[in-house]
Amino acid sequence: MQIQVLPLPEEKMKAKFSDESQLGFGKLFTDRMFIAEWKAGQGWVDARIQPYAPFSLDPACLVLHYAQEIFEGLKAYKWQDGSIALFRPEMNARRFNHSADRMCMPEVPEELFLDGIRELVRLERDWIPSSPGTSLYIRPTMIAVEPILGVKPSDHYYFYVILSPVGAYYASGFNPVKIMVEDKYVRAVKGGTGEAKTGGNYASSLKAGLDAKKKGFDQVLWLDGLERRYIEEVGAMNMFFAYGNKVVTAPLDGTILNGITRNTVISIAEKLGFTVEERKISIDTIMADIKSGKISEAFGSGTAAVITPVGALCYKDETAGIGDRGVGTLTQKLYDTITGIQTGQIPDSFGWVNKL
Ligand code: PLP
Ligand code: COI
Repeated sequence: MQIQVLPLPEEKMKAKFSDESQLGFGKLFTDRMFIAEWKAGQGWVDARIQPYAPFSLDPACLVLHYAQEIFEGLKAYKWQDGSIALFRPEMNARRFNHSADRMCMPEVPEELFLDGIRELVRLERDWIPSSPGTSLYIRPTMIAVEPILGVKPSDHYYFYVILSPVGAYYASGFNPVKIMVEDKYVRAVKGGTGEAKTGGNYASSLKAGLDAKKKGFDQVLWLDGLERRYIEEVGAMNMFFAYGNKVVTAPLDGTILNGITRNTVISIAEKLGFTVEERKISIDTIMADIKSGKISEAFGSGTAAVITPVGALCYKDETAGIGDRGVGTLTQKLYDTITGIQTGQIPDSFGWVNKL
């Protein structure tokens, strides 16, 4: 589909950041956005890149009442030679359509998803920061905009992409976080929407997150919704536990997000000679293995979170420090390898890098 590029008037251009170390996560947005509309009977129409601007939405539209919404997260990196790379964007396109199917939304053709992002990033290339740990975060989103109060799939959608220059997701940067294991609230159950990247999953996690913050923790680790026994994932990342040369993570059984960084970690860990086990593991076993020292490291993986070391877990008011509460050797190696491939400092033997 042809993407129309609308002019960007000078008065719509924003001041760029002056200090990349102060970027934080998702606070600043670039000058332009991509948008396409889907209308029943017509399909995808009117793909365009236009100045970044608020939407005018009917107060009755479906996304505002019944949360018919999905999103994605990926990043663009500026290499030392000035070229630009995306990381595994076709995986985001596929997962977006998996989420769309679960939420009864139209599929976005992979070509439209990728071309829209690539063209937008190309136009906004001056917004990509380049210091270590920074990137341009890309947020593809689809919302239901039909104004009607009946509970039904919309007949009109916006698919749009916005861009945000970012630094580290956690204010602490690449430093160990403290995580509280959530045993009161649940995030997902089998048959629910846990595997979809849909806003409601995040809205329903806010209460647990706030409670954890009040107690001094950065995030919660969710347990399975049925028995509250098996570990699932953290608010914005998948979880890994290292036992010497073995790494364990929760299986993809429909309740957790099929993380792209999770998949990346598994491939790199296997290449490094680690055995990776995707299996159910109980929180009692995890706590016992942390205390006995069998678990040597723990970390989370995510696009925003990259690789985040986990220094301590708290379950039922008991806190266990992991390893020496610092950054483990494997955690550091994975962080360095992934960011090295993304920024062109390490050759990409996996075919993950997508240059613009
Ligand atoms: N789990 C949840 C709930 C997330 O929001 C994210 C972030 O996207 C992840 C895991 C990690 O997924 P990915 O590595 O694809 O970013
Ligand atoms: C991402 O890592 O891209 C995410 O979507 C996490 C987000 C909830 C900040």
